[in-house]
Amino acid sequence: MFSCVAVWSTIARGARAAALVASATSCGAALAQDVSFGQRVFQEKADCKFCHGADGDGRGDPRSPGAAANLHKTILTKAQIVEVVACGRPGTEMPHFDKYAYDDDTPCYGMREKDVGKDIPPIPHSTSLVKREIEAVADYVIATFVGK
Ligand code: HEC
Repeated sequence: MFSCVAVWSTIARGARAAALVASATSCGAALAQDVSFGQRVFQEKADCKFCHGADGDGRGDPRSPGAAANLHKTILTKAQIVEVVACGRPGTEMPHFDKYAYDDDTPCYGMREKDVGKDIPPIPHSTSLVKREIEAVADYVIATFVGK
C-alpha cells in the first residue's frame, strides 16, 4: 500500500502516473484537485481550446466562430459552468455538450427544444460529453483559468 507521501512525490514526476497511483490507494480524496482528466477533456476530447484557446483566454483558432468567453474573467460558479457546458448558451456559438439537452425530460434553463427554437446552441464539432466529463472539465477551468 502506498502512503500519501509516496503519492505526492509521484505527482512531481508526472500527473498521469499520479492519477493511476491515486486510484490504487486510499489517497484518492487528497488528489481530488488532480485535474488531468478535465485537462484532456478541454484540450483534446471536447476541443474547447478550438474556441477558447489553449490558455482559456478566448483567443481560439482563427477558423473558430470567435467571441468565445475569456475564462479567466468568468464569474460563474462551478454549478453554472457545468450548466453552460451541458446546455450551451442559447443564441450564441457556445455548444451544448449534453446530447440530451433541451429534450423533454432534460430541459435547460427551463426550456425545451420547442421553447428555445432557432436559438438552440449548436451541437459540438468534437463530441458530446457525459456528466462525469462535464464535472471534470469545470474543475479544470476553475483550477487553471478562473481568476488567474
Ligand atoms: C464553437 C466554439 C466553442 C466551443 C467548442 C466551446 N465554447 Fe465555450 N463559449 C463559446 C462562446 C462563443 C461563448 C460566449 C457565449 C456568450 O456570448 O455568452 C462561450 C462561453 C463559455 C462559458 C461561459 C463563460 C461566462 O463567463 O459566461 C464557459 C464556462 C465555456 N464557454 C466553457 C467551455 C468549455 C469547458 C468548452 C468545452 C467543453 C467550451 N466552452 C467549448 C464558444 C465555444
